[in-house]
Amino acid sequence: TKAGYPHFMLKEINEQPQAISDTLLRRIDKNNNLILDDIRLDEDEIQKIKDIYIVACGTAYNAGLIGKYIIENLANLRVRVDIASEFRYNKQFINENTLVILVSQSGETADTLAAQKLAKTKGCRILSITNVVGSSVARNSDDVFYTLAGPEIAVASTKAYTTMLVAFYMIGVELAKLKQEISIEDYHNIVEKLKKLPQKVKETLSVEKKCIEIAEKIKNSKSAFYIGRGLDDSVGKEGALKLKEISYIYTESFAAGELKHGTIALIEKDTPVIAVVTQDKLLDKTMSNIQEVKARGAYTIIITDKHIEDVKNYADDVIQIPEVYDMFSSILAVIPAQFIAYYTSIKKGNDVDKPRNLAKSVTVE
Ligand code: F6R
Repeated sequence: TKAGYPHFMLKEINEQPQAISDTLLRRIDKNNNLILDDIRLDEDEIQKIKDIYIVACGTAYNAGLIGKYIIENLANLRVRVDIASEFRYNKQFINENTLVILVSQSGETADTLAAQKLAKTKGCRILSITNVVGSSVARNSDDVFYTLAGPEIAVASTKAYTTMLVAFYMIGVELAKLKQEISIEDYHNIVEKLKKLPQKVKETLSVEKKCIEIAEKIKNSKSAFYIGRGLDDSVGKEGALKLKEISYIYTESFAAGELKHGTIALIEKDTPVIAVVTQDKLLDKTMSNIQEVKARGAYTIIITDKHIEDVKNYADDVIQIPEVYDMFSSILAVIPAQFIAYYTSIKKGNDVDKPRNLAKSVTVE
C-alpha cells in the first residue's frame, strides 16, 4: 500500500532515511567495523584482483558511476563501468583476476544476466549488489550485497539507487582496508562519517517545498540540463534520467567542462540548467560554467552543500542540502533531483508511478 502517500514514488523517496539506515547501520558493529558477511573476499583474494568492471543498466548504471569514483579513490583499484547491454559486444579484458560487480535492483534484468553469464565463462569473480533476495543475479554470484531497501514499486527508482550508493560506499571502504590503502584509524573515521548519513538524508527531505516551486517553473520547458563535475556529473546523470522518464521533458546531463565544446549551443532564454556543486576542489570551475549559461539566459538552479559567496549572482534558485564528507555527498544531492522529477511529472498530469512505455523490470534484451 501507499501508506497515505498519493504515489509509490513519493512514499519511496520518503522511505530513504529508513532504507539507508537498514542497509548501513546493521552492517556496522559497535567498534565501527563493517560486517559484510555475504562478501567473502579476503586479503589474499583482493591481491589477485587487477581490474574491476561494474556492469548494470539505467539507474543501477548511474549508481555504478559513483561506485567507480569511490572504489578508485579509496581502494586505488582500476574500475571500468559498462552498460550491461553493451558489455558482451565491447572488447573485454576480463579473466580470473577481474572482479565483476553487477548492480541490479530487481536482479532479473536480462542484459545484466547475460553479462553475468559471459563473466562467469571467463572465470571472473562476481559480486552482485541487488535488492531482491534469491534473485537470478544473486543466485549466480560469488558474493552478494543485499541493499535491503524493501520493495520498490514505482518504475522510477529512488531508494534502490541511494541504497546502491551505500553499498558502494561500504564496499569501497572495505576494499581499501583489505588492500591496506587506508590506515585502521582512517577506516574507523570513514565508518563514523557513514553512520551520519541516515540522519542527513532525513534532513535533506526538507528541500521538498523548494522543489515544488522549481517544478512549477520548469513544467512547460521543452528541454532541461544537469551539469556538474566528477561525482556531481554522475549525480546529474541520475537526475536527468529521473526527470526525463517521468516528466517527459527532454533532459540531458553534461560534464560542466564540456558545455563549450558543443552543448552550450542548446541554451536558450529560460532553459533550466540544474548544477550540482558538492565537491570542494571543483567548486570554482563549476561556478564559472554556471555563469556562462546564465549569461546566455538559462534559468539556473544550484544544488549544493557549500556556502557559496554571492550565490545569487549565479543561481536563480538555490537548493541547500546538509554538508557531509565530500565523497558521500551524492546520496544527498540526488534527493532534490528526485523531488523535482516527481513534482514536475505531477504538475504535467502524468502517471508518475507508471510512466508511458516503461516497465519496472526489463526481462528482454
Ligand atoms: C530508472 C530505472 C531503470 C532501472 C533499470 C535497471 O528509474 O529504474 O533505469 O534502473 O531498468 O533495473 P535493475 O536495477 O532492476 O536491473
